[in-house]
Amino acid sequence: MSTPSLLILPGDGIGPEVMAEVVKVIDWFGAKRDLPFEVSEDLVGGAAYDKHGTPLHDDTMARAQEVDAVLLGAVGGPKYDDLDFSLKPERGLLRLRKEMDLFANLRPAQCFDALADFSSLKRDVVAGLDIMIVRELTSGIYFGEPRGIFKEGNERVGVNTQRYTESEIERVARSAFELARKRGNKVCSMEKANVMESGILWREVVQKVHDADYADVELSHMYADAGAMQLCRWPKQFDVIVTDNLFGDILSDAAAMLTGSLGMLPSASLGAPMENGRPKALYEPVHGSAPDIAGQGKANPIACILSFAMALRYSFDLGEEATRVEKAVEKVLADGKRTADLLGEDGIEPVSTSEMGDAILAALD
Ligand code: NAI
Ligand code: MG
Repeated sequence: MSTPSLLILPGDGIGPEVMAEVVKVIDWFGAKRDLPFEVSEDLVGGAAYDKHGTPLHDDTMARAQEVDAVLLGAVGGPKYDDLDFSLKPERGLLRLRKEMDLFANLRPAQCFDALADFSSLKRDVVAGLDIMIVRELTSGIYFGEPRGIFKEGNERVGVNTQRYTESEIERVARSAFELARKRGNKVCSMEKANVMESGILWREVVQKVHDADYADVELSHMYADAGAMQLCRWPKQFDVIVTDNLFGDILSDAAAMLTGSLGMLPSASLGAPMENGRPKALYEPVHGSAPDIAGQGKANPIACILSFAMALRYSFDLGEEATRVEKAVEKVLADGKRTADLLGEDGIEPVSTSEMGDAILAALD
């Protein structure tokens, strides 16, 4: 297979700081594992606005459509708060998601042993946790028509519409089953088929896709409210959870917090398979540009480094190499290295962004 290609978009604030550490890891794979990547770098968000007057240049958009995976840092900052809505840094990210048609949002909740005491749940419940929530991202109640606030008699009514077509359900179900095969081979689908027709169709289509093409993957169905309870009670029962846009929004945020800091959380958004069989893909940390700590070398690069690990696993089928990165992060944390956001106990001196990156490189060796 040809050299895998990556487009790197560091963005604003701490984006470039954390991305610099990811670039070290990418270079390490070329030098030490004979796994070179063809890397190009470009601007997004405020950085693109400053240079081109738009948060995403057409050439950058075109490049994003060509590469095997896009890796994004973060966008935004107070400097851009007064810009017209269409020029805001966030619009650059939204354009990428929309034009690449990234319909499956992957949010892992993974708990590193060294940070298990950070969780609001008991250590026993979260230690070693590794689950993945797949949220449908481009349809459902956030997009369905009719929507609006209407006049009805002498009062107003707020309306949103949950709407899913069979093909929208089918494609996100396929993404979930494909992921499960690269993980624990188990999918739990969540909806409210007891009270919503869109949920009835969801359940039926997920089951049909399973029976036709993924019978080797273990499939279960759960009502989303019961699923929320189970996520808090015993999250380790899950491997991959697939759900709609609204339930996924809530469940993925809740699941993420089982494991602690924003500085640790990676994500991916996947679209349809390209000609080479790889899905269109954008990998990014969950956090934003953190203007309060930007430029101070305090940012935790782990969320962005783990986003690259997700790219290794889900875009390039390099699951073992992804695990290698995750193990290196685990080791560094076990050794007591902490960026400022991970400090709990007194007495530990925080390491800087680049010291954390260097420690992860050393652990990779
Ligand atoms: P934020 O995620 O940037 O920061 C929230 C808090 O978490 C801050 O105290 C920050 O210092 C801390 N934090 C975040 N990432 C960290 C890391 N890697 N290491 C250590 N500490 C970290 O969210 P906020 O403050 O609401 O938004 C700031 C800007 O970022 C805004 O312009 C917002 O629009 C943008 N944003 C961009 C996102 C993206 O690019 N995907 C997502 C969320 C916000
Ligand atoms: Mg949310």
